Amino acid sequence: MIYLDHAATSFPKAPGVSRAVARFLDESAGNPGRGGHRLTVAASRAVEGCRDAVASLLGADPERTLLGPGATFWINTVLAGILGTGDRVVVSALEHNAVMRPLRHLERTAGIGVRVVEAAHRWGVPKPEEIAAAVGETRTRLVVLAHASNVSGAVLPVEAVARAVAPVPVVADGAQTAGSVPFHFGRSGLAAFVASGHKGLLGPPGTGILLLSEALAETLEPLVRGGTGSRSESEAMPDWLPDRLEAGTPNAAGFAGLGEAVRWLAGEGVPTIHERTLGLVRRLVDGLRGIPGVRLHGWTEDEPRVATVSFTVEGADSGELAGRLDRDHGVMLRPGLHCAPAAHRRLGTFPSGTVRAGIGPFLTAEAIDAAVDAVRAALR
Ligand SMILES: Cc1ncc(COP(=O)(O)O)c(C=O)c1O
Repeated sequence: MIYLDHAATSFPKAPGVSRAVARFLDESAGNPGRGGHRLTVAASRAVEGCRDAVASLLGADPERTLLGPGATFWINTVLAGILGTGDRVVVSALEHNAVMRPLRHLERTAGIGVRVVEAAHRWGVPKPEEIAAAVGETRTRLVVLAHASNVSGAVLPVEAVARAVAPVPVVADGAQTAGSVPFHFGRSGLAAFVASGHKGLLGPPGTGILLLSEALAETLEPLVRGGTGSRSESEAMPDWLPDRLEAGTPNAAGFAGLGEAVRWLAGEGVPTIHERTLGLVRRLVDGLRGIPGVRLHGWTEDEPRVATVSFTVEGADSGELAGRLDRDHGVMLRPGLHCAPAAHRRLGTFPSGTVRAGIGPFLTAEAIDAAVDAVRAALR
């Protein structure tokens, strides 16, 4: 079995994650922050341990590190919390539907304007000055950018954009970079950074994180309101973090697992994992290039990237190829549009899509070579 779908979700998880989830459920499964008995305290410790580990790995303040069900939830929170009627947003042409669907909804219901910067070079990766020019056209409330494309793997220069458009806030969708690319939120100049806990951070599904700047932490409104275990005499949300943005019983078992994963990542070192997986994706690309008819999409040699690559094969249907690779060779990749139709339009692969390979930290060079052999055999 060769798992090449790390961009969708990580598998396997980091060592110790399943044990941490099971241990939480067996030994500590109180409701965190609700009351003061020993299981509640143990559950709070697991959640706060996760928060501290995430903040430390990503250079954030634990008091402005929020835990929730996924990147999608936090992107929706940020967009709904910042944007008001008639506001204008600038985005890249490589955004995931987690960004584009809420924006298109707000476009219809609140009259917000969405300006997509197509970017002429590097397959849709905008230069900071291109974003700055779009921001300057009319009053812009927000810039939202994928930190890396989930289709091509290209990393976008989010920190340079933040410098170029200041004081307009920039939100980065780090679903594809957190845990995979060295990153320090405190030095990034970003207003917010959102990520999944189950991809590069190697934690369980149903987990995601939001990191906030001091300014945005002061004002961001919750998307969901409800019980927090704090200030129960009031029917208004508490005005402090994390309670203001974390209503309802949290996925504490998931966060116990995510905390374990992030501590493992910190021990290994994200830069080490980044270099190793980039070496493997280069090996995969070299192998694929040796197969007649293979075409890479959005691949650039020396630009910043994550270990994800999209390809098609002339005369072959991507869905059928991926199906055959799974069925006959145990190689798992994801065909199609990857929830990012805009990115495929920009790459010229809409509507048929591509086959996407995403490489995680537990793959070996031998597995990559076997995957290339399997593509060759499946095409035969
Ligand atoms: C770039 C990007 N943004 C957002 C998401 C959504 O993440 P989640 O499913 O964890 O909410 C994904 C997941 O595929 C993604 O690749």
